[in-house]
Amino acid sequence: MAGLGIGLIGTGYMGKCHALAWNSVASVFGDVERPRLVALAEVDAGLAAQKAAELGFASSTGNWRELIANPDVDVVSVTTPNAFHADMAIAALEAGKHVWCEKPMAPALAEAERMQAAASRTAKVAAMGYNYIQNPMVRQIRTLIAEGAIGTVNHVRVEMDEDFMADPGAVFYWKSEASSGYGALDDFAVHPLSLLFVLFGHVQSVVTDMVKPYPERLTSEGEPRAVENHDLASVLLRLEGGISAVLMANRSAWGRKGRIALQIFGSKGSILFDQERMNEFEIYQNTGDRALQGFRKVLAAPDHRPYGRFVPAPGHGLGFNDLKIIECRELIAAISGEPSHLIRFDDGLRIERSVHAMARSFAEQRWVSVDG
Ligand SMILES: NC(=O)c1ccc[n+]([C@@H]2O[C@H](COP(=O)([O-])OP(=O)(O)OC[C@H]3O[C@@H](n4cnc5c(N)ncnc54)[C@H](O)[C@@H]3O)[C@@H](O)[C@H]2O)c1
Repeated sequence: MAGLGIGLIGTGYMGKCHALAWNSVASVFGDVERPRLVALAEVDAGLAAQKAAELGFASSTGNWRELIANPDVDVVSVTTPNAFHADMAIAALEAGKHVWCEKPMAPALAEAERMQAAASRTAKVAAMGYNYIQNPMVRQIRTLIAEGAIGTVNHVRVEMDEDFMADPGAVFYWKSEASSGYGALDDFAVHPLSLLFVLFGHVQSVVTDMVKPYPERLTSEGEPRAVENHDLASVLLRLEGGISAVLMANRSAWGRKGRIALQIFGSKGSILFDQERMNEFEIYQNTGDRALQGFRKVLAAPDHRPYGRFVPAPGHGLGFNDLKIIECRELIAAISGEPSHLIRFDDGLRIERSVHAMARSFAEQRWVSVDG
């Protein structure tokens, strides 16, 4: 296949991450045509021109609709704040482009449904940026579970903690506004939900508690302002097959920087993983001499595909941006009609439905089925 023409909208945290992936995917994998970095869009023409030069794009614009109208663009990376995803992704799909959209789909469920409806009207690929599922360690854990290495899984705990909202003195900003969503749930609990999905299937029912550790914050003008969403969520879940699960998300957890800690308990053993130590996992198996049983640590190595595409030596480790490069390779596979490991809009919508079910459960103080 000739190198895909790439359009990138947004150049912040994730925009740079997508740009690095598009720049690197051919060199890392060596089995795809080098993508052509055709166009980049930002909020204004000046910033767009600066970022196009930095990130290696041939042209730039301060108007994202111009990028979508560009006939040389085959794939659009949408890396703007959540509120823009629906309009940008739908316009790109309707213009006949493939779409790679950052999570979550949209703050409102109706917008996410519109995105999925647009995806279902085209044969183009519409994929979400759920990079943590691409970790070779997570893939290995998935294989182990499927092969029965820890028997029948009966319980899963996942905790996602960061501390960017931990300081009670931090200034009120848009992430505390209700218009940005429910807070910890849709801001980042969607990541552990993506992991639960690829490991165990979709969430069936939930009961949720949410907390505002700091109900009021000071604005940049020093005025007190009520916090409109919840920095902390605790959820009991039932997964496919009746597996019980616990999900905790806390964006005010001092000292936690990028924790997504999974504990998976089965009839023959257990598996532990934490994204803060993304190049290892631990497995306990109830076999052999009991006196010697204990958790065994497995370090990332070329045996855990596609680790070996990045580095030939075991134990040297991948990083966050590498997960995006792997995701990019999976996207190219999907576009080429090959098997791929991605969360597309249909499964992405189901993840969003489970988030909204969690919020409904809290509002109604009861268990809620994701299917309504
Ligand atoms: N997959 C992950 O691990 C991960 C991590 C962080 C953020 N995200 C998601 O990525 C998205 C972006 O978050 P971020 O942290 O990169 O934000 P950011 O603020 O760092 O970057 C957003 C960029 O979009 C640009 N932008 C805004 N409106 C625009 C418009 N109309 N046209 C063109 N550009 C526009 C901004 O100027 C900015 O450069 C969010 O949806 C977020 O949830 C995903």
